[in-house]
Amino acid sequence: MKTDILKINPFCIEQDYIIKAANIIKSGGLVAFPTETVYGLGADALNPAACAKIFQAKNRPLEDPLIVHIADKQDLFKVAREIYKITLDLIDAFWPGPLTVVLKKQEAIPDIITGGLDTIAVRMPNHKIALDLIKKAQTPIAAPSANIFGRPSPTTAQHVLEDLDGKINLVIDGGSTDIGVESTIVDLTQDPFCVLRPGGVGIEELRRIIPQVGLYKKDGILSPGMYPRHYAPNAKILIMEGNGKMQTEKVKDIAHEFDLQGYRFGILAKFENKDRYGDFNVKLLGPGNDLVACAANLFSVLRDFDKDKVDVIIAETVEEKGLGIAIMDRLRKASGVSEKHV
Ligand code: TXA
Ligand code: MG
Repeated sequence: MKTDILKINPFCIEQDYIIKAANIIKSGGLVAFPTETVYGLGADALNPAACAKIFQAKNRPLEDPLIVHIADKQDLFKVAREIYKITLDLIDAFWPGPLTVVLKKQEAIPDIITGGLDTIAVRMPNHKIALDLIKKAQTPIAAPSANIFGRPSPTTAQHVLEDLDGKINLVIDGGSTDIGVESTIVDLTQDPFCVLRPGGVGIEELRRIIPQVGLYKKDGILSPGMYPRHYAPNAKILIMEGNGKMQTEKVKDIAHEFDLQGYRFGILAKFENKDRYGDFNVKLLGPGNDLVACAANLFSVLRDFDKDKVDVIIAETVEEKGLGIAIMDRLRKASGVSEKHV
């Protein structure tokens, strides 16, 4: 299959292009599109055959359920049931935006979306192209991140093409995504509510509306799709815990060790430490005090290391607050070490 590319300026949207993309969705095809978090791979959520193509293109296991995207808060009632006031308070506070809610599903939702579960994950993205596409397609759009299963999520149309060229009908190139890590997923069918995946909305912000929310299920069982090694580049990732000079010294020691052993390696460093590692292959995440920048760069930098064909990435850490929780969650999953329980 030939994958078409449509460049659309999110600040001046060519509606003919949106109609073209929407027609592909309507006729059961696959369209990758930008959201404020990462690029999604969209199909008509009410068409099981179209959704099946998502799993095929991504090489994704069928038991890993998809997030359904809507463009109008009222449409939540069409896909989910048992919606209480607290859910409405949450979506009023965070939609459109990087929050996904897990609720009981409506009958009409095909099993392929939910992996056979009785629950559905839903969000309303805060991106004009995504919203226009959903409205014009006149159907909710199921969209996982538009990468091959297990790889770092795409934050540019180029990343989507690296993974899916020839496997999908269309990529809408709307430039780099703003946030760079996926939405926060909160399960509202659990008591107490619990965050299944930290993301664009910080847990501190969520707690303003639902103070009792926990991070990850208490029994430690991961939600479907929360596989141990995920978001991973080809290279192994070694996370150097610690702070300040103690951390940079540890990174330096291990880098010299790897150098002696002849490994190809890179160092993922914060901006303020860029000069500490001499001539080694250093790539910058962003300033440690600018977690927004660090999140926006994360997946792109991991993909850049793959282009250098390094065997190992030695990674510094960022502070685990706000977006830093999502950044460290993705780095830990990419390293194959499961997340810390907070
Ligand atoms: O920011 C995002 O959320 C992006 C953009 C494209 O919207 N999407 C995204 O989708 O990250 P994906 O497929 O990469 O992650 C979806 C995850 C699944 O792996 C699963 O863990 C969780 O959402 N999920 C979906 N339905 C669920 C359900 N019914 N119960 C629990 N978890 C669910
Ligand atoms: Mg994903």
